[in-house]
Amino acid sequence: MSSLKDKVCVVTGAAGILCSAMVEALLEEGAKVALLGRTESKLVDLKKELHDKGYSETLVTAADVLNADDLNKAKELINTTWGKVDLLVNGAGGNHPNATSKAEQMTADTPMEDSFFGMSLDAFGFVFDLNFKGTLLPCQIFGKDMIDSGAGNIINISSMSADRPLTKVGAYSSAKASVDSLTQWLSVHLATRNIRVNGLAPGFFVTGQNKFLLFQEDGETPTARGQKIINNTPMGKFGKPEDLKGAVKFLAGPESRFVTGIVLPVDGGFSAFSGV
Ligand SMILES: NC(=O)c1ccc[n+]([C@@H]2O[C@H](COP(=O)([O-])OP(=O)(O)OC[C@H]3O[C@@H](n4cnc5c(N)ncnc54)[C@H](OP(=O)(O)O)[C@@H]3O)[C@@H](O)[C@H]2O)c1
Repeated sequence: MSSLKDKVCVVTGAAGILCSAMVEALLEEGAKVALLGRTESKLVDLKKELHDKGYSETLVTAADVLNADDLNKAKELINTTWGKVDLLVNGAGGNHPNATSKAEQMTADTPMEDSFFGMSLDAFGFVFDLNFKGTLLPCQIFGKDMIDSGAGNIINISSMSADRPLTKVGAYSSAKASVDSLTQWLSVHLATRNIRVNGLAPGFFVTGQNKFLLFQEDGETPTARGQKIINNTPMGKFGKPEDLKGAVKFLAGPESRFVTGIVLPVDGGFSAFSGV
């Protein structure tokens, strides 16, 4: 259980529901993990929670993934505390309500404001900034350590919606598709410098934020959208954050040493199923 013994890792969006499970996966393998996000109190709470579980090698690094000064300060703190960064997980990401269309498809009866034509350009910009630039900038800043030390590993968190765009979330799906393209491009660009770049694409996971969309008030019966998802997931269930741990350990560890440029789906078969 020590394939990442003393490796210095950074996880952006660390306090998130899925990302905190990924942090735990890295700690289970002996890594040291810098917890990066904007809200320091969330990171301090996570650090304490992890400490109570027996993991003490964590560092709170409050930073916005869109702010180069913040990221450089975080890098300095990590370098002084532990040394150069070996692994970066770009987990910070998400959607914006105004970048979501109310209607799944635009029919003759759909009001313009409920369709693609009612979606705000600013909200599209927000979603692209957070998911795309918020992946690109940490790669540039923490990737320098990897160039200096002659080895490194980057894992970008995408979504199954990049490859098979879900209805309504047009901006999020396009932004995550751009993350996949960057992952492939960068994997080629950095391959001769011994730096691997891969992606991980979670499918449907129940989180505090989406539980109300997926389950009715009793917390057990799926909503119509929740049932539609289950019907299209060959394994017939939603994922749990801990289901991501094995995939993270694989991409982060030496077992995947000849793997670069892939985006690994963790989705119960959703992306493989045609629906028929
Ligand atoms: N949840 C799902 O079902 C699902 C499915 C597919 C893919 N994903 C992807 O998986 C990744 C992790 O999801 P999650 O569920 O763990 O997310 P989450 O619970 O929504 O948390 C997102 C985290 O990112 C941080 N963050 C947001 N904006 C930031 C910024 N500008 N700079 C630094 N940190 C920022 C937030 O903390 P602060 O606000 O304090 O910064 C928060 O801790 C995301 O990329 C998401 O798109 C999620």
